[in-house]
Amino acid sequence: MKILVTGGAGYIGSHTCVELLQAGHEVVIADNFYNADRAVPSRIEKVAGKPVTAVYPIDVADKAALNQVFDEHQIDGVIHFAGLKAVGESVQIPLRYYRNNLDTTLTLLEVMEAHGCNKFVFSSSATVYGPNNKAPFTEDMPTSATNPYGWTKVMIEQILRDYCAAKPAFSAVLLRYFNPIGAHPSGLLGDDPNGIPNNLMPYVARVAAGQLPKLTVFGDDYDTPDGTCLRDYLHVVDLAKGHLSALEYANEHTGAEAFNLGTGNGTSVLELIHAFMKENHIDVPYVIGPRRDGDLPGFWANADKANRVLGWKAELDVNDMCRDAWTFIQTPKD
Ligand code: UD1
Repeated sequence: MKILVTGGAGYIGSHTCVELLQAGHEVVIADNFYNADRAVPSRIEKVAGKPVTAVYPIDVADKAALNQVFDEHQIDGVIHFAGLKAVGESVQIPLRYYRNNLDTTLTLLEVMEAHGCNKFVFSSSATVYGPNNKAPFTEDMPTSATNPYGWTKVMIEQILRDYCAAKPAFSAVLLRYFNPIGAHPSGLLGDDPNGIPNNLMPYVARVAAGQLPKLTVFGDDYDTPDGTCLRDYLHVVDLAKGHLSALEYANEHTGAEAFNLGTGNGTSVLELIHAFMKENHIDVPYVIGPRRDGDLPGFWANADKANRVLGWKAELDVNDMCRDAWTFIQTPKD
């Protein structure tokens, strides 16, 4: 199939492009490179050993530009990653988050409709389980959010359900990611945020590499076995493979369907730091600090549905994630 990947130069998008190419699909990337390096498409080609069909450096909310993509390519399906994703920033500039994340999705759906394209895989987040459900989360739980970023995911899921109800031929797969970390084992693709990282693994890797002095563990007085928060970390390569399974599902079904992509296991912040040190034989200096606003103690998936319906299961473990994140930060890129 010929697949349009919006945000295809980003962290999860780039790994997904590699898996698509390796599985024999054609890949067209649309990415405004707001939060991605211009060199990523050529790294995707290097890793996959195959060319990307086309790269459009456009904003997906630019309807004329997006129409041109669909005019120039017979797109069979879309995987939609493009969007803003920093929780704290979304609280500071909510309108920008709502405008950007909703506009890109609505524009994409309108352009797909005009071109008769009916298969859509959406990059959602486990953040849609909100503060009121209890882990492990199952797909039938009510959704909500605690910040504008999370609400954009809840809203887009609803838009897709409403659209599927109105368009019986349309298929939307809503993938609720838990905590993707790690990198491609080649060391050429990974999570490389601009500025100081917000998320745990890129922070750990930069401390290990001596680029930041020390890590602060946000709270060790939670009601968990070691007092630090539990998260369902999953390897980004496993996550990327989940998109292939979702695409196959979209090809054979119609309607909107949500799936958790996680391992089903909770790992604490301290366990992750110690796994990183042990796996890579390197010290990661850390101190215990206060809790971070908005953090929940335990957040992990019930991953049965993806396994049962999509035939997908995470195969890599926390040690693989730590090894590959460390390889990525040490590998010269070009
Ligand atoms: C965060 C977002 C989530 C989003 C996901 C995307 C919040 C509250 N949640 O998830 O909505 O979908 O990123 O990747 O921002 N930690 C430290 N020190 C650090 C950084 C993190 O102790 O310097 C801890 C956090 O308190 C948390 C764990 O590490 O317990 C994981 O944090 P992070 O990687 O930011 O992910 P989430 O907060 O789970």
